[in-house]
Amino acid sequence: MSDKRASWSGQLAFVLAAAASAIGLGNLWRFPYLAAQYGGGTFIAIYLALVVTLGFTLMVTEIAIGRLTQQSQLTAYSKLHKGFGPLGLLATVIPVVIVPYYCVIGGWVLKYFWTYAKMVLHPSANPLEDAGGFFGAFISAPFAPFGYGLLFILVCALVIALGVKHGIEKSNLVLMPLLFVMAIGISVYVMCLPGSGAGIRYYLVPNLDALRGADGGFSLAQLAKTVLGAMGQMFYSLSLAMGIMITYGSYMRKGDSIEKSVRRIEIFDTLIAVIAGLMIIPVVYMFAVKTGTPVKEAMNAGPGLMFITLPKVFATLGATGPWLGLTFFVLVLFAAATSAISLFEACV
Ligand code: PFF
Repeated sequence: MSDKRASWSGQLAFVLAAAASAIGLGNLWRFPYLAAQYGGGTFIAIYLALVVTLGFTLMVTEIAIGRLTQQSQLTAYSKLHKGFGPLGLLATVIPVVIVPYYCVIGGWVLKYFWTYAKMVLHPSANPLEDAGGFFGAFISAPFAPFGYGLLFILVCALVIALGVKHGIEKSNLVLMPLLFVMAIGISVYVMCLPGSGAGIRYYLVPNLDALRGADGGFSLAQLAKTVLGAMGQMFYSLSLAMGIMITYGSYMRKGDSIEKSVRRIEIFDTLIAVIAGLMIIPVVYMFAVKTGTPVKEAMNAGPGLMFITLPKVFATLGATGPWLGLTFFVLVLFAAATSAISLFEACV
């Protein structure tokens, strides 16, 4: 094997590969439930401010470190300065910690993909009729979540072992835009549902009520919690501080503009996250109003939001519901797998 470092065929290939790592469960599953939990528009405003400032700077820095040192994260920092060496170790440990958790959620997506596939084949049975009960029973079962998580890992490992990464990069070209179109389609459907206006406003319009404490006054603790939530999401969603952007940067050609690439990656990543919220949050709001649940309580559903609320939307679509559910979870599975594969790469 030659020692010469491989490089991306061009700026577009780099942007696509980095976007494929960035766009994943963080956008489709994590962003909507955090936005719901932290007051919708307020969370989005803080998140956007962080992405264009701290996020932009950090991503440009990581890619530049990779390109300058031509090393992956483990050794890049020490090459920059001996004293920075431990940072490389830290940036390597973080993806190792995240991989198992990411794969558990990947397993949930696999389970939903499989459930919708069965529903397409046998449309009369809808195990997701009681979406909340189905999700609760599945994640608290003693073996099933581990089995599906393991299967998700095996699929990703197989892809890496077979060296079909380049094939994946090519299919990104088709599947990422498809994910985009699907997400827009579902969110437009949700926006057209009667009564969705209040939920859309809750999601998009910053509202200072989200920053009030239990006594009804402005709460610094609540603001700190929201900023920390948004910052954590920024690191997670943009794949920052996990070595991956350093490693990818080391394959970047000298002549390509880092700033331009980062701007594009951030636009793709943020658009998908915001659209994912549009698919989910107005529906949660409507369900809360319909069932008389306090909105705040409904929004605090957390990790279950995508797995409980969306199936409820699909269930209202009659015969097309299972097909839409299947297509949606195929795309989520794909987005999750490409991110997981980049996480594995960072570990390797
Ligand atoms: N950014 C991915 C997501 O939003 O789902 C998660 C991730 C992938 C984080 C790869 C870190 C990483 F290296």
